[in-house]
Amino acid sequence: MKSVKTIICVVGARPNFMKIAPVMDAMRKFPDRIRPYLVHTGQHYSKEMKHHFFEQLGIPEPDIDLEVGSASHAVQTAEIMVRFEQVVLKERPAAVLVVGDVNSTIACALVSAKLNIPVIHVEAGLRSFDRSMPEEINRVLTDSISDLLFTTERDARDNLVREGVDDSRIHFVGNVMIDTLYKNLPRAATVEEIVTVTDKLKAVIDEQGFGVVTLHRPSNVDCPIKLEKLLLTIREISRQLPLVFPLHPRTQAKITDSGLGGILDCPAIISLPPLGYMEMLGLLSKARLVLTDSGGIQEETTALGIPCLTLRHNTERPITVEQGTNTVVGCDSDRIMHEFDTIFKTGGKAGKIPELWDGNAAQRIVSILMEWLTQ
Ligand code: UD1
Repeated sequence: MKSVKTIICVVGARPNFMKIAPVMDAMRKFPDRIRPYLVHTGQHYSKEMKHHFFEQLGIPEPDIDLEVGSASHAVQTAEIMVRFEQVVLKERPAAVLVVGDVNSTIACALVSAKLNIPVIHVEAGLRSFDRSMPEEINRVLTDSISDLLFTTERDARDNLVREGVDDSRIHFVGNVMIDTLYKNLPRAATVEEIVTVTDKLKAVIDEQGFGVVTLHRPSNVDCPIKLEKLLLTIREISRQLPLVFPLHPRTQAKITDSGLGGILDCPAIISLPPLGYMEMLGLLSKARLVLTDSGGIQEETTALGIPCLTLRHNTERPITVEQGTNTVVGCDSDRIMHEFDTIFKTGGKAGKIPELWDGNAAQRIVSILMEWLTQ
């Protein structure tokens, strides 16, 4: 007899929300088989970092919010573990499903593995091979204790097998983040709904287009000297192409603390608070190019065919470079300006949509999951 199995789905930080939305949608089609139970750890809690996404993506209210908030990595991870353990003990799920690579991902995976509850990892096997990134530690550790691993690109399987993961646990299913992108693209906000500009700047944007900038990695924003150099480069680019720059709370705080706000105080840089999903999607889809240090935006720009310059020395998403529109440029001003000039003049590389980034990844995940639950 097939019974209804509880699967705890975990979200914690902004990039988790667009990944869980299609997975929960697909699960809800089988109420006689799966009872999804949504835990929000509260790693991200501000209105801009959480609420906009739940509303816009139609994610149900979490069954429980652990309200851990911000803290050092050790404190945040430990607090999530202590609170999440109580939920698992009470709900006794058939499995715990985690997405991505944030602190909430590893914290909840570790609790589950220690309680002998199977762990399912969506977006497994991505590797930057840079252990100074907190996310890389989270990825390696989560994958090593996962029972079912869903990957977004073929290279991910090689990474996992090399680390000793049994091949039979790995399933190449495509990219749930891109499921969300295709579903919502027709409803994305228009540029006019997002930014108000002077007539003069509007005329420039109408003629030249605009770029989008996002920065939030500790390696880029925590050191004031490095941050200043990046902001000066951004200002330099804005002399040719107006830039819209939604500021992550971490970045805003570092700019304020280091007294660097003046650098962005020029007419062709439009600084904004963090945006909701529909607003960000609207901007990205209309941009002439994007400069970012985000992981997800490298994938979204590839799916949208918009040139992306990644302001990091590596990427855990190599397919966006090999097949997509992404170029990893590092943080050196001359290199960034050189690559910007190339894109500005030539339009950048065309790119193609990677295999299985077709809007059906979540459906594949849930089919495999249901089969696995019967074993
Ligand atoms: C986290 C993830 C990162 C992801 C990013 C997306 C980890 C290790 N990092 O980084 O992989 O790309 O989310 O945003 O999990 N803050 C607020 N409001 C909030 C949340 C945070 O103001 O709702 C501020 C706080 O000052 C906090 C800082 O942002 O100290 C950093 O937040 P934190 O959750 O530690 O990491 P992120 O930098 O957001």
